[in-house]
Amino acid sequence: MTRVLVWDVPTRLFHWLLAGAFLPAFVIALTTDDDGRLFPVHMLLGLVAAFIVGLRLLWGVVGSRPSRLSSFALRPSDLWAYARGAITGGARRLWTGHNPGASWAALVMFACVVGLAASGILMSRGVEAVEEVHEVLAWTLMGTVGVHLAGIVLHTLREREVIALSMLDGRRVGAPGDAIASPRPIAGLAFLALTGAWTGGLVQSYDPATSSVVVPVIGAQLLLGEGGEGGEGDDHEDEDEDD
Ligand code: HEM
Ligand code: HEM
Repeated sequence: MTRVLVWDVPTRLFHWLLAGAFLPAFVIALTTDDDGRLFPVHMLLGLVAAFIVGLRLLWGVVGSRPSRLSSFALRPSDLWAYARGAITGGARRLWTGHNPGASWAALVMFACVVGLAASGILMSRGVEAVEEVHEVLAWTLMGTVGVHLAGIVLHTLREREVIALSMLDGRRVGAPGDAIASPRPIAGLAFLALTGAWTGGLVQSYDPATSSVVVPVIGAQLLLGEGGEGGEGDDHEDEDEDD
């Protein structure tokens, strides 16, 4: 069988930007103190991750067929058959888009990032009650990434297909009829431009004196240091605010 184009440019860009935002955000959170100098980077990366998941969900409606959420294999019976095949090595169906395991893993990852951003924002506004939710979501996401990577290794060995390559060149083994017509490069550029504008807006508005940013489009101020009771960035008595 030949390798056919299934993942368009926006989906591939999304994938590597998400991995590139999540992993350092996770490492920073585990290795530095929440009032340390690097911690605002943790929150910035998390806000970027949430933004690109938002774009990915939009692309899940208007994107190329295999990238659409409606193409995800979410039927419980398919997941069950897939899990049985993966464990026993028995009869397996080849999926050109996401298989049931990857479809569910992707959804869980999208949901975790959205939940992490929501709980993170709440914490930075002083709602400490969601701290455990944030932690559980972070570890659920990390666990899902672990299973995701294990699935990729398993697939590579069993099917003798270096599937990791598919997130680079967009191609994987499939029937010619499963191929998409275009890699959608213009949408890829738009994806990069929007993500760049969002990230640039956050970074530019960063005020080290108050450790706060202004969220682009929404215009709300968000504290990236430790949240206080009032949460709006005006309650840090120990910082000089005379500029
Ligand atoms: C070296 C590391 C990684 C490799 C080689 C890799 C590879 C892949 C591949 C090949 C797929 C497509 C699976 C399929 O055919 O169904 C995929 C999908 C996906 N991966 Fe990864 N991945 C890596 C790391 C990560 C990390 C760290 C994350 C999350 C933070 C992640 C999140 C996802 C998501 C969300 C999808 C679904 C893509 C979509 O539909 O938008 N991956 N990955
Ligand atoms: C990809 C997204 C994110 C991941 C993977 C992530 C992960 C984590 C992890 C693992 C911790 C450490 C929990 C602990 O053991 O103490 C943490 C703490 C924290 N995160 Fe995130 N986070 C993300 C996004 C965000 C965002 C967007 C914000 C805020 C805008 C945020 C704000 C915080 C705060 C304030 C803490 C400190 C909690 C405390 O110890 O008081 N995070 N995060």
